[in-house]
Amino acid sequence: MRLLGIETSCDETSVAVVEDGTTVLSHVIATTKQDSAASAGVIPEDAARKQLEAILPVLHQAKFDPKTIDAIAVTKGPGLLGSLLIGTTTARLLASLWEKPLIGIHHTLGHLSSTWLDAKDSPQFPILTLSASGGHTDLWYRTSHTQGMLLGSTRDDAAGEAFDKGASMLNLSYPGGPSIAKASLEGRNDAYHFPLPLHTEETLDFSFSGLKTSLKYTIAGLQSPLDAEQKNLAASFQEAICLHLVTQVRKALLKHPQVKEVHIVGGVSANLRLRELLSTIEGVAVRHPTTLRYCTDNAAMIAAAGYFYSQERKDAYGTFTTHASLPLQEVIAS
Ligand code: KG4
Ligand code: ZN
Repeated sequence: MRLLGIETSCDETSVAVVEDGTTVLSHVIATTKQDSAASAGVIPEDAARKQLEAILPVLHQAKFDPKTIDAIAVTKGPGLLGSLLIGTTTARLLASLWEKPLIGIHHTLGHLSSTWLDAKDSPQFPILTLSASGGHTDLWYRTSHTQGMLLGSTRDDAAGEAFDKGASMLNLSYPGGPSIAKASLEGRNDAYHFPLPLHTEETLDFSFSGLKTSLKYTIAGLQSPLDAEQKNLAASFQEAICLHLVTQVRKALLKHPQVKEVHIVGGVSANLRLRELLSTIEGVAVRHPTTLRYCTDNAAMIAAAGYFYSQERKDAYGTFTTHASLPLQEVIAS
């Protein structure tokens, strides 16, 4: 079954054709992240205007024959409303024009499906998934694509947001994840000590605001210019974020020993230090998306999620509304 996927929830405009939720046949991603660098973040009105400019060229570049498409999957939320509407309006129009069934997909369900894309072997449930991006940080215990439970989520900032805000304090460019990761390569990760959040508590939640405040005070108390310590601070801050994420994953595995695989998805799963630390976990397979393109926002993961969702849910092709905020619990049932 071939699905056309459309993703426009933030500042990526992406279109993909994916077969059976796994084989990516066509995939185009246009991003305006570089424009967001100047303003150190995304301006919603700008992002929506750029989505409008990009959607048709991206659809053309994806080069597919509409006759070969069985259904269309589009991100219905959460995200920036103006950006989302460009995608859902386009998808509704194409579905009606080409007479194809249409399915609205939760953005995070897309990330959760990203580890299936071009995977050599099929992932085995039950799976513990750490989904960490600029908008959310969640830990899931999943027994199928649409069944499972949320074990923990962030109480304040998302992990990607912590990278973005940390980078801004360190005079590094937006988005913060890649720039902190790059600066860290030339820094010492033990140069500064940041307290490990929530480690004395049983909770599987996350919290990054303490780390952010700690970085702020460390910078304020520096004896030398920030430039001289920027790389050491970046490496130590990255280490603290990654250690917090991995500690919660380890705690979850102790509570759920039946887990067969650990997956990391979302923009932060692109982080090589995080992958390195997760790979030291023994007894389970650890998986991340097969390419960096599938870590950050992309349409292939939306097409994959559309396929799996339609396989497991009879009501998948019902009507849907576009929403800026949307709880994932409505698509993953316990
Ligand atoms: O999934 P995504 O593309 O968009 C959202 O749904 O939010 O994630 C974007 C986030 C940003 O906060 C960015 O700083 C972070 O993912 N990110 C990274 C890396 N690449 C992107 N964080 C850490 N290390 C990276 N290499
Ligand atoms: Zn995302």
